[in-house]
Amino acid sequence: MTTENEKLTAEGRRSLLRGVAIGAAVAPAMLAGATAEAQTLASAADDPLLVTVELTVNGRRERATLDGRTTLLDALRHHIGLTGSKKGCDHGQCGACTVLVGGRRVLACLTLATMVREPVTTIEGLAKPDGTLHPMQQAFIDQDAFQCGYCTPGQIVSAIACVREGRARNDDEIREYMSGNLCRCAAYPHIVAAINQAKTKMGAA
Ligand code: FES
Ligand code: FES
Repeated sequence: MTTENEKLTAEGRRSLLRGVAIGAAVAPAMLAGATAEAQTLASAADDPLLVTVELTVNGRRERATLDGRTTLLDALRHHIGLTGSKKGCDHGQCGACTVLVGGRRVLACLTLATMVREPVTTIEGLAKPDGTLHPMQQAFIDQDAFQCGYCTPGQIVSAIACVREGRARNDDEIREYMSGNLCRCAAYPHIVAAINQAKTKMGAA
């Protein structure tokens, strides 16, 4: 004989099974978006490797949530959307990633984004808002100092720092203090000429 409790339990099981069956039918569609969103939120909140960094780049305050091991170069290119700084070797050997941090040139591929405290200037931040080029940019054009364009952003940024450091007093010094920036097209003589042109306008002749 079936007790009242057993009837309720059986009915409860049937309800549960109906619910599971309906749930199974709709779950894939309904849950797909929710799961993806939940995973994103969970990883942002729970992943111990993720950190939120705030950087001042070209005068703008930028915020990005990224893996704590992210380099400044990848933060600029992939999180902030400034792709002017190039990844040549990613090993600190070519200078293509050179940016200014607190006015000093650094290799962004060897710098952790989380360690940057001072303002960053990239190639995108050199021209004035009205489009007037920095004297070094103009000099590179005037002296035909680039070909592929891949090393050029790093060359220009490094050249500006070279002048500001007072290391552009003669051609030998320019070559020495620009030796961390490699060009495979042999544009070096043009780059030296460009730096000589620009340093006058930069007030460092
Ligand atoms: Fe940084 Fe080559 S990409 S030095
Ligand atoms: Fe970029 Fe020569 S101009 S490698």
